[in-house]
Amino acid sequence: MPTQERRPSALKNETDIVRLRNVGFGYSGRPSVLRDVNLILPQGSFHFLTGPSGAGKSTLLRLLTLSERPSAGRIDLFGQDVTQIPRAAIPQMRRRIGMVFQDFRLLEHLSAFDNVALPLRLNGEKPRDYAQDVAEMLRWVGLGGRFDALPPSLSGGEKQRLAIARAVITRPRLILADEPTGSVDRAMGDKLMRLFQSLNKLGATVLIATHDEELAHQYGAGLLHLENGQLQSIEPQPRPQAPVVEAV
Ligand SMILES: Nc1ncnc2c1ncn2[C@@H]1O[C@H](COP(=O)(O)OP(=O)(O)O)[C@@H](O)[C@H]1O
Ligand SMILES: [Mg+2]
Repeated sequence: MPTQERRPSALKNETDIVRLRNVGFGYSGRPSVLRDVNLILPQGSFHFLTGPSGAGKSTLLRLLTLSERPSAGRIDLFGQDVTQIPRAAIPQMRRRIGMVFQDFRLLEHLSAFDNVALPLRLNGEKPRDYAQDVAEMLRWVGLGGRFDALPPSLSGGEKQRLAIARAVITRPRLILADEPTGSVDRAMGDKLMRLFQSLNKLGATVLIATHDEELAHQYGAGLLHLENGQLQSIEPQPRPQAPVVEAV
């Protein structure tokens, strides 16, 4: 479209939050986990990443959080090539991403409240500015009575909800979640999904890895399926919901 052509190139690139081109990856000395993966996640899209256990879903998310580097191909985040990004620039890039790890990675010596407040503190915000927001978020994920609890004293489901609260408290533009409902019952799972959906409606690009195909189908979002190292887009929907898996 002509209007699109006239847009400044920086802005144009920014409309694709994630872009993978011919990405390959294998852990050292092992067969490749990802082969020739192509993917575009437009800004404001919502997708599930499905596939059997061991297919490489967590590995793909680790590439996106720059915890691993691809052995082939190129990855762009927020319009910037991150394949060759210097180590020193990685923390700043990561701060733009809300990541929910499968194993939570909470700081055990910090209270639930301080775990959620940490990303805001790291951004230089003051307690008086963020305290209410943190409290509201904790109440929203059902941890209203556990502000002072240390993570080791929380149940698996509580830890999961805390990890989600921490990941989204800064309202990141990209949210990556690895099996975020694996430790909660269906009702809480639905509630957490609604949280991801509301953040998506506010503009966040969301990618949720799950082995639970039923969950993925239930929400009618874009579906990406990973198997045998190959990524496939199924049930494509109109933009911006649809992922674009480019032809090789
Ligand atoms: N740190 C690692 N070192 C070596 N192999 C790994 C490592 N992490 C995962 N793998 C292997 O990579 C493959 C993909 O794993 P993973 O990304 O965790 O799959 P998924 O999240 O879909 O279950 C599996 O065969 C797994 O054993
Ligand atoms: Mg996994």
